[in-house]
Amino acid sequence: MKVKINLLFFIYIFVSFPVFSQKQDVELISNIREHLLLDAGWRFALGHATDYAKDFTTGTSYFTYFAKTGYGDGAAAPTFEDRTWREVDLPHDWAVELPFSAAASHSHGYHTIGWKYPETSVGWYRKKFTVPASDYGRKISIQFDGIHRNATVWVNGFYVGNEPSGYATSVYDITDYLNYGEENTVAVRVDASIEEGWYYEGAGIYRHVWLNKTDRLHVAQYGTFVTSEINGDNAEITVRTKVANQYAKPCDFTIEQTLIDANNEQVVSKKLENVMLNGNLDNTYFQKIKVEKPTLWSLENPYLYKLKTSIIIDGQIVDTYTTNVGIRTVRFDPNLGFFLNGKNVKIVGTNNHQDHAGVGTAILDALQEFRVKKLKEMGSNAIRTSHNPPTPELLDACDRLGMLVLDENRLMGIDQEHFDLLERFMVRDRNHPSVILWSLGNEEWAIESNEKGARIMKTMQEFAQKIDSSRAFTVAVSGGWENGSGKTAQVMGYNYIVQGNIDEHHKNFPWQCGIGTEESNTIGTRGVYVDDKANGRMAATNRMPENMGTESGWKFYAARPFLSGLFFWTGFDYRGEANPLSWPAVNSEFGLVDLCGFPKDIFYYLKSWWGTKPVMHIMPHWNWKGSEGKNIKVTIYSNAEEVELILNKNSLGKKTMEKNGHLEWDVTYQPGTILAKGFVKGRLTVTELVETTGAAATVALSADRLQLHAEGEDVAVITVQLNDLKNRLVPTANNEIAFTLTGPGKIIGVGNGDPAAHDPEQYVETVSRVNIDNLKYQLSSTLSNNTEIAENFDDSQWSKAFAKGYGEYEVGKNIIVRGSFTLADLTDKTIITLFAKSLAADQSVYVNGKLVGKDLKRNDPNQVFVLDRNLLHKGKNTIVFEGKPLVKKTEWEEINTNPGTIKIYNPAPQWKRETFNGLAQIIVKTTKQAGEITLTATSAGMIQATLKLNSNSVISVPTTEDFKK
Ligand code: GAL
Repeated sequence: MKVKINLLFFIYIFVSFPVFSQKQDVELISNIREHLLLDAGWRFALGHATDYAKDFTTGTSYFTYFAKTGYGDGAAAPTFEDRTWREVDLPHDWAVELPFSAAASHSHGYHTIGWKYPETSVGWYRKKFTVPASDYGRKISIQFDGIHRNATVWVNGFYVGNEPSGYATSVYDITDYLNYGEENTVAVRVDASIEEGWYYEGAGIYRHVWLNKTDRLHVAQYGTFVTSEINGDNAEITVRTKVANQYAKPCDFTIEQTLIDANNEQVVSKKLENVMLNGNLDNTYFQKIKVEKPTLWSLENPYLYKLKTSIIIDGQIVDTYTTNVGIRTVRFDPNLGFFLNGKNVKIVGTNNHQDHAGVGTAILDALQEFRVKKLKEMGSNAIRTSHNPPTPELLDACDRLGMLVLDENRLMGIDQEHFDLLERFMVRDRNHPSVILWSLGNEEWAIESNEKGARIMKTMQEFAQKIDSSRAFTVAVSGGWENGSGKTAQVMGYNYIVQGNIDEHHKNFPWQCGIGTEESNTIGTRGVYVDDKANGRMAATNRMPENMGTESGWKFYAARPFLSGLFFWTGFDYRGEANPLSWPAVNSEFGLVDLCGFPKDIFYYLKSWWGTKPVMHIMPHWNWKGSEGKNIKVTIYSNAEEVELILNKNSLGKKTMEKNGHLEWDVTYQPGTILAKGFVKGRLTVTELVETTGAAATVALSADRLQLHAEGEDVAVITVQLNDLKNRLVPTANNEIAFTLTGPGKIIGVGNGDPAAHDPEQYVETVSRVNIDNLKYQLSSTLSNNTEIAENFDDSQWSKAFAKGYGEYEVGKNIIVRGSFTLADLTDKTIITLFAKSLAADQSVYVNGKLVGKDLKRNDPNQVFVLDRNLLHKGKNTIVFEGKPLVKKTEWEEINTNPGTIKIYNPAPQWKRETFNGLAQIIVKTTKQAGEITLTATSAGMIQATLKLNSNSVISVPTTEDFKK
């Protein structure tokens, strides 16, 4: 009998009770693990890459955090006032918020970030979270799935580590630093001054953050590794489980593996009993499990099982760890290409970087899914994660949707740091069935064609094989194929067929498998048919030698069974590398779809030959006012055997389609309709009609999904389209559209795929801090007629306050401290908030002579005052603190001399975007409230559009907030 298992119970439900085991004399603290999302409610501010004062003085104390543990200072200190910072939710990419400049980095899309811009290249993040007192004794870690880049992390002022890589997942054990039953603070300094890649990389905590809680006896992080063998109709899976015993004493336990199918029903369960593991040790255990008649993971049916690994002591489950399992086999053959489950499959893939319109690299899970689906729509079956380990949720989407992955490492090298990064990357990703091949590097020009490369690749491969011997390894090479890193690779990665002679290479290296890690697309701007390079746009005509482009690349690979497949450069356009153009072009135009995912014409060429459905696509549009009587080349992408083209009801003849080819007609332009009919075996199977449209008259909105999850991280990807009065897309319309949103949602980005657009993609509130300076003081018995608090009181004779720290002042006197702050222009919407700190006991605070707070308790964190705009003015303003001098409570206490800070908040302007060739995109995120989200799009002189989305309650991924006491 099959047992129904509620998986959510195992994954999410929090159970906390002590289990006592007399036999082992180990007091178990709590069981089932928690994996809590820590994305919401962070504070963010820019620091400074070179000026310590502007970097919140972090690291300038007498004893730094390197000198003494727990001595995080400046913005790393738990007491730091971060309420003057902006509130952001993760994932977050601040680079996409920055303006463009011709002087900025070409490869990173001309955003004003990098070593030339120290004032915008360091970002700070802080978040407060609570752990319940009952967590005491468990193991707790914080997990960052990716921060770009060079991230330093403190928890409660404790320096926990630094991760230079912008692509590595880093996990820090914070068990001993936490305040149980109280608030905790995590602070992260991110320094994106140095570029890691030569393409846009974003900046910030752009992937999820998690808090992990486990029993001290638990499956290690990424501690399972499941591989499968298929024998006829049956399979055997091998499960390696790494268990960590972080108790001081030995534990005697059972490891139970339960395989659960996609209907949440148990398939098979197996136990390994009487496992003994000494204290403070970890060990890996092997179990082989037979699975009868499994449903295999395949491209057509990406079937996923779940393996629930339980650690059991005396009948009590102390840890449960879930692994997604796709039962499948992969194999590369030097002569026959790639095999999935023993079946020959041509890999038809694209390279992709990790940024999207509007949001940069901060891609929420639903947007990952949108991007994978878009590539699948073209018939593509594979993604290369060029040139770095991807966001884990991209791999999850590929597992779910049936997309193969060539998973790529970032740094090539054979030292501790390189191996450590490589190991962490592979251990993290090796359970994904979608991952079929590892790439150890890309176009490493220093080692591509020399012996050092051959050595490095061999050493890396040997190391990596110990981590995963179930998959092969490649390296992407652009030259010197026979002599360098490619020479020792199991699978040769060819970057571009023009870089050498692949047939010759195959003859000389008959043992080596081959794959096209990069191949040229027919590059160009969506909807542009005439080059306009001065403005950063180009028509999609072939520009490479021998008319190289998508078609010649695909024909080459399609004709050679020994080549397992290819990855075009690229699937999506990406920011940076606007080659062969430069400023004002800011984004690449290599993509088969633009930065938003709107298909370019060439998308339909591949869809014709990679997909399974009838395709008919006419290029270009038919709005050529002024070109009447001139010849226009019409290109047809289709998989029909014959195509007939008809202009205004006159047939222009039928042509036969060559396999993997396209058709062309020279057509004398006249406005009206152009119709293409496709025939297979003489039968009409597909048609496409393109019409000359009227002027843009109406805005239309459509979403990829109308039903969303109210979990705070779901997104709808919305297409904004400009139509004529007959609801036909106007392919030349570039008009500004303004957006208004009501209901439980938030706009998080806008784009339009224009590679030369310099308009903002983000409209966010601005928050800045103003310091209170020029502190002077006087002691007096009392205020004399309030003159000392007056705005223009002459304090030139007063002494500088706290020059040597807080002094010991005469008992009985009052201390009066005068300071000033300077304001720039304020708008009607500006909100100015004072966050004061105690400079006196029971202090009163005055701004420009007016009392704003009195009898404020020492160190009260709520000395927060929204200042009346009428009280303030541009330029210098005065602030006065008055009360009894503070007295040291202990000998070693350093009394506060910081008067606090002023926060200037300007709300976000209205979101807007110009359409580009008729289209734009807007991305809307849900909140945690269920309800109807209404998006309205208006444009001058056009009929406006309204779209309604439903955000429904769901059992969402739990967050730290959900467990607040
Ligand atoms: C390749 C390289 C890619 C990208 C591309 C642009 O050589 O591997 O990362 O730079 O060129 O053409």
